[in-house]
Amino acid sequence: MKKVKLGVLVSGRGSNLQAIIDNIENGELSAELAVVISDQPDAYALERARKHDIPGVHVSAWGFRGKRDEYDAVLVKELQKHDVELVVLAGFMRIITPTLLIAFPKRVMNIHPALLPSFPGLHVQKAALEHGVKFSGCTVHFVDEGMDTGPIIIQAVVPILDNDTEDSLSARILKQEHTIYSRAIQLFAQGKLVVAGRSVRVTDGVDKSGEFLTNP
Ligand code: GRF
Repeated sequence: MKKVKLGVLVSGRGSNLQAIIDNIENGELSAELAVVISDQPDAYALERARKHDIPGVHVSAWGFRGKRDEYDAVLVKELQKHDVELVVLAGFMRIITPTLLIAFPKRVMNIHPALLPSFPGLHVQKAALEHGVKFSGCTVHFVDEGMDTGPIIIQAVVPILDNDTEDSLSARILKQEHTIYSRAIQLFAQGKLVVAGRSVRVTDGVDKSGEFLTNP
């Protein structure tokens, strides 16, 4: 099977990037890491990329205040330079603009540490605990122009325990993130994801009612 070329955008520690690297190396994920791009010069994710001989690039946001689309145009150039087919947001702490989405239509994925559409935004594990929900989890979705609003690909449910803290809950959710992100990318690589409106279906056949996302 042809490997899908990934461009991973990061800002920090990069544990989701690491899980993707590990799953590629153990043969569970038919993908190739074409480039890792960080908006932060000292992101540990860049170090992880370096250790595995993956091109790592720092694209500084300095000078782009109020010009998010211009910053995204630089990202698009860099991603295209590396022939990226699927853009993977993994702890990238910037809001994406249409400039990136138009260049990669339905080819930008994100992972979010809550069961969307509940708890979009930041500090969501704390918000889930404070709200008193009994279950939280994580969501992989295609990115659209809203904040954590795009079509949902996979979710994993994590029960909330009586003695949970923000840290303990975050750690249990993160463990699930490391599994479902690679699973979603693999379904994309296999050309099995069909997007019809807000719904993403997993299929083996040709589906004329939706847009067939292939990896030819
Ligand atoms: C993860 O919790 C992810 O869901 C969120 O940001 C965090 C990134 O963690 N979008 P890491 O950098 O992948 O370790």
